[in-house]
Amino acid sequence: MAEIGKDIEKAAALLSSGKLVAIPTETVYGLAGNALDEQAVLSIFKTKKRPSFDPLIVHLGDKTQLSDYVKEVPEELEELASKFWPGPLTLLLPKRGMIPDLVTSGLDTVGIRVPRHPLTRELLQSLDFPLAAPSANPFGYISPTSALHVQDQLGDKLPYILDGGTCEVGLESTIVGMEQGQVIIYRLGGIAVDRIESAVGKVLILPQSSSNPKSPGMLKSHYAPGIPMVLGNLDELMTKYRQKGIVFAVLSFNRSFPELSQELQFALSPAGDYDEAARNLFQGMRFLDRAKVEIILAEELPEIHLGKAINDRLRRASAK
Ligand code: TXA
Ligand code: MG
Repeated sequence: MAEIGKDIEKAAALLSSGKLVAIPTETVYGLAGNALDEQAVLSIFKTKKRPSFDPLIVHLGDKTQLSDYVKEVPEELEELASKFWPGPLTLLLPKRGMIPDLVTSGLDTVGIRVPRHPLTRELLQSLDFPLAAPSANPFGYISPTSALHVQDQLGDKLPYILDGGTCEVGLESTIVGMEQGQVIIYRLGGIAVDRIESAVGKVLILPQSSSNPKSPGMLKSHYAPGIPMVLGNLDELMTKYRQKGIVFAVLSFNRSFPELSQELQFALSPAGDYDEAARNLFQGMRFLDRAKVEIILAEELPEIHLGKAINDRLRRASAK
């Protein structure tokens, strides 16, 4: 099992010697390695069992380092970086040669992010290299939002988990790039679309697909619990599965079901708050994944604020 602690120097020493360390960010925990070291990058792919065509995000301690790793930054993306970094925003930018092709799966753009979790910022600022870090979960499973989530799934493959508590945002970063002068969101995430649009005007949200070559990792079935999940109107679904005699658990936005035991239900935010719902989403999916049931019934949220990104994850989790 991995050691869990808050020792930044220890994490830095391991990373400097080519080892991997799980790091906390405000979105989800990352599986970090030296982005400039091909061996470390290879072991990230191996540890996660991640296909090599799915590129990694590179994390920087500060926005001023950006020009070391990318050739240019379009004005609109510069605006987003000023506004939302450090924070849950990843920008796709033309990479410089020092970023290994392995990191970007051969693409000429690299995903860059300046995270805002204080422990990881301090760690990044103490290193003389950036960190490549995908979410610290086995490929296809739910992203981890606590050190224990990482321990549960990758603990036997890691020397150290830097413990930064529960992730404040709970959804992965919003991924934004540009094509032919148009700002595009490639992955909905921790910064809601309306906030991006208030900074740079109307954006295009590229529909998820496994054939979109620009974002090969945006596979339709992803972030999925082990127990099958189905999305729809909860009252209708519950009636239907009860009639069929199928044992189920329920994931709702803000409801409670007196007829169901506590192990069989999870409300993302009893108060109906979107930020709280985002923060609880992956924890809730993990919680119900431990229930002794055949299926998880879930409902979509209204498509406002982080509701859009939460629904995106719910749809991927229920796609098979
Ligand atoms: O919040 C986050 O973004 C977390 C934390 C740890 O920073 N990281 C994360 O990484 O979610 P990961 O690897 O699980 O998801 C990154 C996604 C992948 O699906 C990948 O396809 C896409 O970003 N991506 C990375 N670089 C890309 C590039 N150059 N072009 C297109 N898509 C890219
Ligand atoms: Mg991931």
